[in-house]
Amino acid sequence: HQRKIPKETGWDHSIELLREGYYFILNRTGKFDSRVVLTRILGAKTICMVGKKEAELFYDTDKFYREEAAPTSAQKTILGQGGVQGLDGEEHRHRKAMFMSLMTKEALNEIQQLTKEEWQSYINKETDEVEIYEAAKVVLTRIALRWTGVPYKEEEVQYWASNLSPLFEYASKIGPKNIKSRWSRQKLESKLEDLIQKVRKERINVDRSRAFYQFSMHKDLNGELLDQHIAAVELLNLIRPLVAIAVYINFTFLGWFEHPEQVKAIKNGELNSEQFIQEVRRYYPFFPFVVARVRKDFTWNNYIFKKDTVTFLDLYGTNHDPEIWDEPDEFKPTRFNGWEGTPFDFIPQGGGEFDIGHRCAGEWITIKILKTTLEYFINEVTFEFPDQEPEYQMNDIPPKPKVIIKMKG
Ligand code: HEM
Repeated sequence: HQRKIPKETGWDHSIELLREGYYFILNRTGKFDSRVVLTRILGAKTICMVGKKEAELFYDTDKFYREEAAPTSAQKTILGQGGVQGLDGEEHRHRKAMFMSLMTKEALNEIQQLTKEEWQSYINKETDEVEIYEAAKVVLTRIALRWTGVPYKEEEVQYWASNLSPLFEYASKIGPKNIKSRWSRQKLESKLEDLIQKVRKERINVDRSRAFYQFSMHKDLNGELLDQHIAAVELLNLIRPLVAIAVYINFTFLGWFEHPEQVKAIKNGELNSEQFIQEVRRYYPFFPFVVARVRKDFTWNNYIFKKDTVTFLDLYGTNHDPEIWDEPDEFKPTRFNGWEGTPFDFIPQGGGEFDIGHRCAGEWITIKILKTTLEYFINEVTFEFPDQEPEYQMNDIPPKPKVIIKMKG
């Protein structure tokens, strides 16, 4: 017996999405007591789903595609136009391989080294208070530029940092912040295109083993160099999310501030720092949901899915799903002790496969940077948390509570 997906009435619920933020999908799946519901966003019918089985469905490329799935406003801010996120099939696999070829063991070791060096040189200059989120953005911008091999001058680091952050801080905002996000993307894309042209014409010499050179010279399936604009978009697909790790570093310190006993357990050798990091990525909100479209009409769990319907998979909700997690709204790093997950249940950076699916290319790097940062501050920095009450709202995407540390000695 086929049935229609439970449907929220009304012409459009985009305003509620802005108002309810990370709870938008959970509020509706709760209200209709269904893990799949239909609503309307930006005037279009939109299916919302939450859960492990639903994630498995969402990442089935026979059932969903990505071309023109993300709204234009997201392409003009956070994603860029023509990048890997919007590709399908063979074209996606080929482009994704360009990203995954960078994610080697050596690269992860180098990232670890760069993370230590950059925090050290930042912290050595500080004698008083440090606002973690702001510090992390600068440190990560330097790591991103060095690791990708983008040519830059020391005095340009601040320019990069201040134009990269609006791409992910303001992408979900409306009004002047959204415009700032678009401008920043245009500025950075044209700067990168200029550099790509120079490297192609051999006017500048760069390290050939690094992403900047590799992407600049990458050939598509037809054996032709990528359009220089697309090469710039893909370079930003490395640099932007590297800097966005600042959101998680900030939450790592918030987790430390709110649960000092957990960090004590790490110091005493009773808890693994990676479990703490995994819990930070599960518990705190960052990427709310991912977007695709239905490839062809099909029926799943008796629900009818109609071709081309926009579909959201709730990442935050799945990471807080009581069917997967015991006491999901508690911060409990030990839950990851012996955790045997699947590609569909712990999905802060998307689910499914890295190579043939759209799972985040930078997940290993993210974990490495977070773990290295946490261990560096545990082992090498003497600081305390001054009196403060960091706060954040569940409709601020992504939240950036102000967390301050005070240097000692
Ligand atoms: C895709 C989250 C860090 C590169 C994604 C997706 C999410 C995500 C949710 C989409 C998954 C999907 O469409 O199904 C995050 C978060 C990060 C992070 C929360 C923490 C800051 C990184 C880093 C890199 C990176 C550090 C690169 C160095 C990418 C790329 C894609 C992607 C290239 C597109 C993959 C594809 O479409 O096949 N990320 N990411 N991300 N991420 Fe990340």
